[in-house]
Amino acid sequence: DSDYENKLIELKSKIKSFTDFPRKGILFWDIFSAISDGNTCRLLQNLLVQTVRVKYPEVEAVVGLESRGFLFSFSLAAEMGIGCIPVRKKGKLPGEVLSYKYDLEYGSDILEIQKSVRPGLKCLIVDDLIATGGSINAAVHLLHDSGAKVLGCLTVIELKSLDGRKNIPHGVPVHSLIEYE
Ligand code: PRP
Ligand code: MG
Repeated sequence: DSDYENKLIELKSKIKSFTDFPRKGILFWDIFSAISDGNTCRLLQNLLVQTVRVKYPEVEAVVGLESRGFLFSFSLAAEMGIGCIPVRKKGKLPGEVLSYKYDLEYGSDILEIQKSVRPGLKCLIVDDLIATGGSINAAVHLLHDSGAKVLGCLTVIELKSLDGRKNIPHGVPVHSLIEYE
């Protein structure tokens, strides 16, 4: 509705970008610039909760990607009274883990999830931003390996020009609140 759309426009106006960060040629969209303001925290939280209630009412756990995704996975899970599960960089999670290695522009990265995720658990992956889609794709694979059900992925920001969606397995919907080129 128009109230939701107006909130999205307001949120978009609060997110600052930084040129040449973390490397020359990269335009960095900084989620922290928006949430240093209390009203914008509440606005963003409301938008995320409303989106999840409408699109994924059956969700049983929110899976946040280290580290900026944790901001949104815990607050969503706490508000909805559902589980909050971390996907972390290699070596950070105790107990038995599943690992997924993926290529970056320079080198590679490994993400992990604990093996204790219940098979069939209806999960929503949450992160601040989708760029190449490599991180979210890794999370989808980890959850599939766990036997969990991936309902979809939700990000605050999507960088359209990188077309990260093409790297997410078919049949896994991706929803972003705000788009930039
Ligand atoms: C950034 C961002 C997303 C990811 C998106 O995280 O927060 O998680 O990159 O990029 P992709 O779609 O190309 O995978 P980063 O790895 O910089 O770490 P941080 O969240 O700990 O800052
Ligand atoms: Mg991140």
